[in-house]
Amino acid sequence: MDATGVAVVTGASRGIGRAVARELAARGFDTVATMRDVSAGEDLPMRVERLDVTDPSSIRLPDGLRVLVNNAGVERPHHPFEATPADDWRAMFETNVFGLIEVTKRAIPLMRASGGGVICNVTSSSLFAPVPFYSPYRASKAAVSALGESLRTELAPFGIRLVEIMPGPIETDMLAGSEEPPAALDHEAYRPMAQRSHDLRGNVKGSYTPVAEAAVAIVDAICDDDGPLRYGCDPMSVGLLEMWRTTPDEDLMTMMSQGWLGSWS
Ligand SMILES: NC(=O)c1ccc[n+]([C@@H]2O[C@H](COP(=O)([O-])OP(=O)(O)OC[C@H]3O[C@@H](n4cnc5c(N)ncnc54)[C@H](OP(=O)(O)O)[C@@H]3O)[C@@H](O)[C@H]2O)c1
Repeated sequence: MDATGVAVVTGASRGIGRAVARELAARGFDTVATMRDVSAGEDLPMRVERLDVTDPSSIRLPDGLRVLVNNAGVERPHHPFEATPADDWRAMFETNVFGLIEVTKRAIPLMRASGGGVICNVTSSSLFAPVPFYSPYRASKAAVSALGESLRTELAPFGIRLVEIMPGPIETDMLAGSEEPPAALDHEAYRPMAQRSHDLRGNVKGSYTPVAEAAVAIVDAICDDDGPLRYGCDPMSVGLLEMWRTTPDEDLMTMMSQGWLGSWS
């Protein structure tokens, strides 16, 4: 697509969203960086508007909308499944799934009126691996992945393309948070796996991608008219996506789980 019309990014106060808003504006889109607290966007060279994806009254999208980047997302401490508070499940689904749904519902008629556009959902490359203690986060991203498949078909007649970005480790506050010892370490029965999981995280540390690089890949995907549904935006996610495309699903999950099971298997 050519870089004309309005592009809206959710969760643009920091991290991937902020970098994507900058990149969209640099390419020529009339970009609106939306965020919960607009003071975080004071230094951004574009329109900044308040939008909390969990507060429907704050969701106001402009006419002429051609690109929506559903980036806003949250994580909660990673407990074992049996110990994860229901409120943590709800909080992740409230933002990562229901918030995204509400924004997208409102974007679709505006994009139809604009003659088409791109909806870009940010999920996670964690969907390629059976990561222990990540059930709620991965389940929320899997829900977005599934609804994106249906939407891609449903919206094609209107010239609206659905793109899913599945980031690997990108240097943001969220990634820094996941470097902390996992909450699962507090649960004795799960401590060996939690420790192993923490150690494995350490191995990935040299493979972090700066947000600006990820943003270039994300906007390239948005502009890639005849491209696929799913994209990585960093070397690790690009490699995992390729592995996922070429390896039978059960084999991939079994292979991946060995990392966490280690000597337990
Ligand atoms: N970084 C990675 O390695 C990585 C990997 C895989 C997937 N992802 C996904 O990439 C996306 C961006 O993550 P990030 O790493 O940039 O995270 P981040 O640095 O923690 O930023 C998250 C952004 O989401 C916003 N947000 C949270 N709740 C919101 C709400 N209710 N309404 C509007 N905005 C809200 C935050 O706003 P506040 O400033 O107001 O909190 C912030 O702007 C997320 O969907 C995440 O799941 C990231």
